[in-house]
Amino acid sequence: MRSYLDQLRAAGDLDVVTREVDPRFELAAVTARYQEAHDGALLFENVKGAALPVVTNVFGSRRRICAMIGADDLAFCPAWHRLTASVGGRGETVAVEPPPRREVKLSDLPHLTYFEKDAGPYITAGIFLARDPDTGVPNLSFHRSMHVSDDELRVRLGSTHDLCRYANAAEARGEPLDVAILIGAPPSVFLAACASIPPDADELAVAAAIEGGPLKVTPCETIDLSVPAETEIVIEGRILPGQLRPEGPFGEFMGIYVPEGDNHVFEVTRVTVREGAVYHGLVCGSPEDLIPLDTAIASKLYRHLTAVLPGILDVSCKPYLMNTVVKIDQQYEGHAKHVLLAAFGAHLDYSKTCMVVDPDVDIHDLNDVWWAFVTRGRADTRSLVIPDVPGFYRDPHKDHWGRLGIDATKPWGREAEFERKAIPGAAEIDLSDYLK
Ligand SMILES: Cc1cc2nc3c(=O)[nH]c(=O)nc-3n(C[C@H](O)[C@H](O)[C@H](O)COP(=O)(O)O)c2cc1C
Repeated sequence: MRSYLDQLRAAGDLDVVTREVDPRFELAAVTARYQEAHDGALLFENVKGAALPVVTNVFGSRRRICAMIGADDLAFCPAWHRLTASVGGRGETVAVEPPPRREVKLSDLPHLTYFEKDAGPYITAGIFLARDPDTGVPNLSFHRSMHVSDDELRVRLGSTHDLCRYANAAEARGEPLDVAILIGAPPSVFLAACASIPPDADELAVAAAIEGGPLKVTPCETIDLSVPAETEIVIEGRILPGQLRPEGPFGEFMGIYVPEGDNHVFEVTRVTVREGAVYHGLVCGSPEDLIPLDTAIASKLYRHLTAVLPGILDVSCKPYLMNTVVKIDQQYEGHAKHVLLAAFGAHLDYSKTCMVVDPDVDIHDLNDVWWAFVTRGRADTRSLVIPDVPGFYRDPHKDHWGRLGIDATKPWGREAEFERKAIPGAAEIDLSDYLK
């Protein structure tokens, strides 16, 4: 990650805070205010009581995430699909000598507390690397982790996530699950960790595909895993079988607190940092959380939709993850309705609402999407309600049940009537030539 930060600095995409900030709330508050007006990374050089600097908002920019995979037209989904289409089975890794690392205690790392009612300090940008106990396939994913002591973290594993399946499989054998938590991994590993790919595919191979060559790895000392060698901070440990302890409350990505609950126990066996390491903090629910998640969810939907339907151009989850917007090139009457049906089956946790638009609509601007719906046809026949279907997995009161679909495309056969008007030359006008 450090060479990526150097690149961002050279490109003017990194700002630096030199004055001392408190790891309890102040660092998160400054990040949140910064994100209101900027999309650069923010480096805190002086965090009270912490030996390491902290960087936030490294991935809080759609422009940067698109650039990482060469999607210069800002159409992430098609580029991601091309990149990952050939990635299957087991990925290419190469074992290397690790750069100099030193062992530290968990309490030596910055302890960041983000939201008012959080139970305490949390690791929020930790990437969990584990292997499927049955198949050995490696998986990367994010799981927030509450600091408890030098030996213990408590982690919440989403029930539909691969890591939860791995932990259950290990527990069925009465065994702990070896896990390495990577903080400040190479950006390719961060992006691969966001991805939801089929369970038999290897997310380290996705990272290698992004890198354009084998991923350099080095073995852990206390667990049977190899980790990306350049990772700034590695926490080795195990998720214990048959043990759940209180974790939370925590200010989650939906903008509310998830209450305290009994969650998994992570036994820490070793913590190492590279010389000159930078700690990565991430404000949950901020652009650095939502933009990578948006691209991950949209890509999963795009993969499914393109497999079953023609004319799928791109997908976004604007203005929030639960809404899917699909851009299509209409091929037949009723095409958009087919897209709605397919989207509702493509990612059962999300797509609470789905909207389908024509190629001339900006799927990253919900004002434009609603403009299309209200100007391009009837409200009643172009909306579709599916009652009583379960939605997001953590939903004890069924608040996320049901689906709403909206066809905002032009009426079939009357496309010419809905051509957008344009003023010739307007796009090329430089106002400074006129306003003297
Ligand atoms: C930046 C970021 C942070 C995330 N934090 C969490 C988290 O704290 N807990 C969680 O269960 N999922 C979290 N997620 C969601 C999943 O870990 C993530 O989507 C992952 O890709 C799921 O992978 P899987 O398909 O291998 O299960 C986060 C995702 C992103 C992109």
